[in-house]
Amino acid sequence: MIKVAPSLLSADFNDLAGTVKALENAGADYLHVDVMDGRFVPNITFGPVVFKYIRKMTTCLLDVHLMILEPEKYIPDWIEIGANIVSVHVESTVHLDRALSLVRHLGAKPSVVVNPATPIEAVFPVLSIVDQVLVMSVNPGFGGQRFIPYTLDKIRSLRQEIDRRQLEVDIQIDGGVTEMNAKSLLEAGVNVLVAGSAIFQSHNMAATIKALKSPL
Ligand code: DX5
Ligand code: ZN
Repeated sequence: MIKVAPSLLSADFNDLAGTVKALENAGADYLHVDVMDGRFVPNITFGPVVFKYIRKMTTCLLDVHLMILEPEKYIPDWIEIGANIVSVHVESTVHLDRALSLVRHLGAKPSVVVNPATPIEAVFPVLSIVDQVLVMSVNPGFGGQRFIPYTLDKIRSLRQEIDRRQLEVDIQIDGGVTEMNAKSLLEAGVNVLVAGSAIFQSHNMAATIKALKSPL
């Protein structure tokens, strides 16, 4: 199934509750929450305090993208306060298996992330213990950046490997996703599209989510 996960990074924080409700009504499958620590990436965003409010506002699945160093230190807290899917960057820890297994053990869905320049083969050893692979198609840190085209080849190799091993693993893409490139992404094997600016800059969020799911 094709899913769309709007990234709250580009949301209107003046009326976060209204935005969250509007996204739910517009057909969002997950809400994507970008957690940045100013060390792993050159930006700082939400912490648990804001997240707790988001959790209270919605029953939608919350997809937490951790862009932080020492993720294993904070994983228990994020799951405790309601993260449903937790994405951990390959580049952020030397104990990737431990971090992903911890997510599973604490009852959330483990997802592994790779930066654009990290070879996709880095996730192959952990494919059997995750529910999702997130392929970054921009360098993490900011919304509104341009899609990096060479990441499409990584998606194709990943799709091949998942199918060859007959695994049930979602492929999520994050960064520069638009109605224009959605078709090529889905054709390459993606089934979960994260979109920030494409959704928040549109005048009709429901129509944009629909168009992302079934691009012309
Ligand atoms: C970037 C974040 C993305 C970002 C996507 O570091 O991980 O989730 O919000 O925003 P757009 O869709 O605008 O590229
Ligand atoms: Zn993200």
